[in-house]
Amino acid sequence: MSKGFLFSTVPNILCELGSSTKVGELIKKLGTKHAMIVTDPGLRKLGLTDKIQAGIEKEGLKCSVFDKVAEDPPESIVLELIQKCKEIGVDGIVGVGGGSSMDTAKVTAFMAGKTSQTMAEVYGVGKTVGSRLPLIQVPTTAGTGSEVTDISVITTGVAEKKGVVGPQLYADYAVLDGDLTLSLPPKVSAATGIDAMVHAIEAYTSKFKKNVLSDVLAREALKLLSENIRRVCEDGQDRDARGGMLLGSLYAGMAFANSPCAAVHALAYPIGSHFHVPHGLSNSLMLPHVLRFNGGEPKAALMYRDLTGILFPAEAAIQGTDVMVMADGFTQLSHDLKIPVNLSQVGIKETDLEFLATEAMKVDRLMPNNPREVKLQDALDLYTKAYHN
Ligand SMILES: [Fe+2]
Repeated sequence: MSKGFLFSTVPNILCELGSSTKVGELIKKLGTKHAMIVTDPGLRKLGLTDKIQAGIEKEGLKCSVFDKVAEDPPESIVLELIQKCKEIGVDGIVGVGGGSSMDTAKVTAFMAGKTSQTMAEVYGVGKTVGSRLPLIQVPTTAGTGSEVTDISVITTGVAEKKGVVGPQLYADYAVLDGDLTLSLPPKVSAATGIDAMVHAIEAYTSKFKKNVLSDVLAREALKLLSENIRRVCEDGQDRDARGGMLLGSLYAGMAFANSPCAAVHALAYPIGSHFHVPHGLSNSLMLPHVLRFNGGEPKAALMYRDLTGILFPAEAAIQGTDVMVMADGFTQLSHDLKIPVNLSQVGIKETDLEFLATEAMKVDRLMPNNPREVKLQDALDLYTKAYHN
């Protein structure tokens, strides 16, 4: 028997092509009379929220739409939405989008619910006191896995990111409708797909909370994601592959919500906040270098061996399952999917690397979970490798 663990996730998952039309029915059952769809302007323009809104109104409920969510959601926008929900009597939230929309939706559902806390009081782990409004999350990327995590990452001030982590942030339903991801461009599919792979890899090697259930989910996530990522980038309309990516992203989300991410994410965060590089791409730029670094720790090297054959079966059959094979596989994957492979390609200069390293060391929610300790000089070395890749 493995060591004991606590595993938490959302109570309900609906996974079916076309299932987003059922959101109205589901939120009505949760007691909502006035729902707020939380999304970004691009998705609304694409019409992705129209069917969901129509489904909610068909149930005789009122439906408002907030479409001002921006990437790396700023606290000011979150506060504006919370205020609006309170003013107009919203009693149910539907997040539709990528991580930014879903993170905004979950913290809003809590802050506009039954709590007397201010935003400043809820940042951190386990600080939330009270209960939230009914909440349904509908991802449109595969992805962040935010639909099944209890974490909301908000940008405060100019570029500082703070997390709200609490059990109230788990949604009532995660609704996975692969059809909503059909319009994702190849480069977004590639970067968000690699982000999901990083969630699974980091959960599988996380230092403290890794457990048998997160391990099973991480391995299954990597199988689905590696089988489908090239397919969705080659043919965006491949519904079967889109569904596979969404499910893989969900498994990875369930894994890392219970066995948290580590150095790849900690090093990726400052790239995103200070250079406005999309989250998935920031992760894919750092991943191969962190893998090679972590491979120097014998226990981690053994864990990676479990994953190389799942991720890159053809390469592993010839070259073996060493972590170097996995790291090289990811660099090749980025080349094949035509996304940047080094930091200079995303506008970062060599003189920025020291600053990035200092910022990454501040991400103390994630960095300590890394299977090998990362010191400031290690962080700088990793950025230097990612720059010259
Ligand atoms: Fe991520």
